Amino acid sequence: MYFAIDNELKIYFKMEVFERPVPIDKEVSWDKTKTIMSKTDRFGTIEYANEVFIDVSGYEDYELMSQPHNIIRHPDMPKVIFKVLWDNLKKGENYHAIVKNLAKSGRYYWVITDFDISKDEKGNIVNYFARRKAVPQEVITKHIEPLYKRLLQIENASGMEASEKYLVGYLEEQNKTYVDFIMEIMNEHEKAMAQQNAANVTKVEDKKGFFSKFFN
Ligand SMILES: Cc1cc2nc3c(=O)[nH]c(=O)nc-3n(C[C@H](O)[C@H](O)[C@H](O)COP(=O)(O)O)c2cc1C
Repeated sequence: MYFAIDNELKIYFKMEVFERPVPIDKEVSWDKTKTIMSKTDRFGTIEYANEVFIDVSGYEDYELMSQPHNIIRHPDMPKVIFKVLWDNLKKGENYHAIVKNLAKSGRYYWVITDFDISKDEKGNIVNYFARRKAVPQEVITKHIEPLYKRLLQIENASGMEASEKYLVGYLEEQNKTYVDFIMEIMNEHEKAMAQQNAANVTKVEDKKGFFSKFFN
């Protein structure tokens, strides 16, 4: 829980009011056609979570409200991914990240994010809205887990600055941003699936088109 003690300086103390679940290596069983949604204030404090969020995370709504969003942070997630996510959100930019989340049961669930950002009349960020969809297991196993494991190892050994440098180098080598990389691996999977099903693959015209097709 966060307590505002000074409105000007916005100093917040974070208190753990719940026991962090012990992670177990089992996936949450959920309807992967659904969209997990939440709304936060500009600090990432949860103000709303939809039924799907509640079902998948295993928390009751009264346990989630007013909690920092890291209530579902999984220890397998490298810090650098959240750093880059927040760097973009604070600039008012949408971001598509693949995230492993921790349910109350200790089980995990992988999602890809999509954000809407609301601002007041002065242009200050007031709220963030996050929508999340499931990610195909093959994308996780083939591309995401190996990269995140490496980032986490680097972080544990040498800190987040080192893991950020590694991530930058990894993406520079492919001449891509993180979001381009995510789009490519998701698209590659979609094409493979479509080929398997002998279906027609619609040409992906741009990044915005790709993600809006995915989230609609
Ligand atoms: C709207 C919104 C949605 C978020 N969704 C998630 C999420 O699904 N999982 C997660 O671990 N962090 C999510 N975050 C990021 C968390 O605020 C937090 O940065 C992250 O869990 C890492 O925790 P830490 O910053 O305490 O290291 C979200 C943030 C915002 C603003």
